[in-house]
Amino acid sequence: MLKETLYKATEAGAAVLKEYFNGTFTISNKEGLNNLVTEADFKSEQAIIAVIRGQFPDHQILSEEEGTLVQESEYKWIIDPIDGTINFANGIPICCVSIAVEQNGEMLMGVVYNPFMQEFFFAEKGKGATLNDKPIGVSQKDNLLTSCLVTGFPYTYLDAPNGPLDIFPKLIRKGIPVRRLGSAAIDLCWVAAGRFDGFYEHKLQAWDSAAGFLILEEAGGKVTDFKGNRYSPYQPHICATNGKIHDALLAVVNGGEL
Ligand code: IPD
Ligand code: CA
Ligand code: CA
Ligand code: CA
Repeated sequence: MLKETLYKATEAGAAVLKEYFNGTFTISNKEGLNNLVTEADFKSEQAIIAVIRGQFPDHQILSEEEGTLVQESEYKWIIDPIDGTINFANGIPICCVSIAVEQNGEMLMGVVYNPFMQEFFFAEKGKGATLNDKPIGVSQKDNLLTSCLVTGFPYTYLDAPNGPLDIFPKLIRKGIPVRRLGSAAIDLCWVAAGRFDGFYEHKLQAWDSAAGFLILEEAGGKVTDFKGNRYSPYQPHICATNGKIHDALLAVVNGGEL
């Protein structure tokens, strides 16, 4: 029933994305000039929460726009109603619905669905990860210098010591391709599918990463904080790779030279 509800909630959110994409919708600012939220973010969130509440009225919910709906429950739904809002607002079809289900503090299931590419990523703890129902796995590349990476840039924190503006030039000066898709959830899933070899980003929120974290781990990847500890979506910085380039990428994000 959990999985069925997760799928239904994801479809309900995705239907809103499809309805509004390239149409007219209101856009407002959160903090900062380009930190946007659209009417579709709110509508997607409402549709997702309605499905979950209909089936599991007592479960906890943590959702980007709505915040925390606190209940005493071992289950928590972590929702990003649109990950990649700026892409969405600009008609760029790299955005998704991301929903994770946590049980007693451990990720149990996660979905990342980009309805514009018709890519539905799913994982359940201990059961592997799939893309459109087919098993996926990470790449086998073991040399950072020949890897294809992806990252994202936060709105603040750019000038922190050894922050994003220190790390990025080190990589691109070596000619390493570093992409920036604009959706952390999709970044993680594309590492899971072997399209990228690694991903790092500062200052993510739990709803950006919770589902993608489980999907990547279940695809055989390694996901840690910048100290190398197993990742928790409740802390900000993420290093996520195929496992083979993990130590090399961690060294760079920690100030090392290439
Ligand atoms: C954003 C995306 C982006 C990341 C930002 C997030 P949103 O989420 O995941 O890739 O760089 O830090 O805030 O706002 O589009 O849901
Ligand atoms: Ca946002
Ligand atoms: Ca997000
Ligand atoms: Ca969002």
